[in-house]
Amino acid sequence: MNIEMNDIEAILARHSVRNYLPDRIEDEKVNLLKRKIDELNLSGNLHLQFIEDAGSTYNRLLNRAMGLGSAPSVIACVGADSDDLDQRVGYYGEKLVLYAQKLGLNTCWAGTFNRRNIGAEIADGERLVISIAIGYGKEQGTPHKSKTAEQVTEASDDAPEWFKKGVEMALLAPTAVNQQKFLIKYGSDETVEFVDKAMMLGQVDLGIVKCHFEIGSGRDMAI
Ligand SMILES: Cc1cc2nc3c(=O)[nH]c(=O)nc-3n(C[C@H](O)[C@H](O)[C@H](O)COP(=O)(O)O)c2cc1C
Repeated sequence: MNIEMNDIEAILARHSVRNYLPDRIEDEKVNLLKRKIDELNLSGNLHLQFIEDAGSTYNRLLNRAMGLGSAPSVIACVGADSDDLDQRVGYYGEKLVLYAQKLGLNTCWAGTFNRRNIGAEIADGERLVISIAIGYGKEQGTPHKSKTAEQVTEASDDAPEWFKKGVEMALLAPTAVNQQKFLIKYGSDETVEFVDKAMMLGQVDLGIVKCHFEIGSGRDMAI
């Protein structure tokens, strides 16, 4: 456990992990995760849930085809349904992913999973957006192939250093099928605009990207 790891170190260390050891997460870490989830649920008006036994959430043939074999535990990303739910799930869910990395755990965001088997509590008016596999990986994953900063930005050459740092961290963000279909625009009055160009799960991606951009730039992005 390396709780001293800072957010940038956690971003650099994190990669999607699709093969897990069967070991359960120790009680001490489960308690820390649950405490973090309570905090994030409050800030993001969400109902993220740690489900200790992932059961057959990932046992479908489709998951195996995508490489995600199994995971001992899962986080169900649920929240009060609204237009911005997907983006909030991405933003606060990624904060949890980075926290898990600091605890020495591995994760994989997973849009493909068995919605019936996950065992999430979904109250009236709530929606289950996505899942996050969590546990101890058999390996630590590898860096993804990435677009360049020029491909994902619209900014003048004299954009400030903080913007460039934000983009650098945004390019390390997980996105569905590694699509990286987002655009980050810098306005001369120091404004930053995020544009979603994806056909699927683009708003979840955008929330994740905003989380990384904030860490890199040290600036608050409205979410
Ligand atoms: C919204 C979202 C959905 C994803 N869904 C799946 C999935 O269903 N199965 C899977 O194996 N990986 C899934 N991933 C993981 C991506 O494939 C992965 O983040 C991407 O390839 C970049 O690699 P990295 O996370 O190692 O940086 C998903 C990622 C995101 C952000």
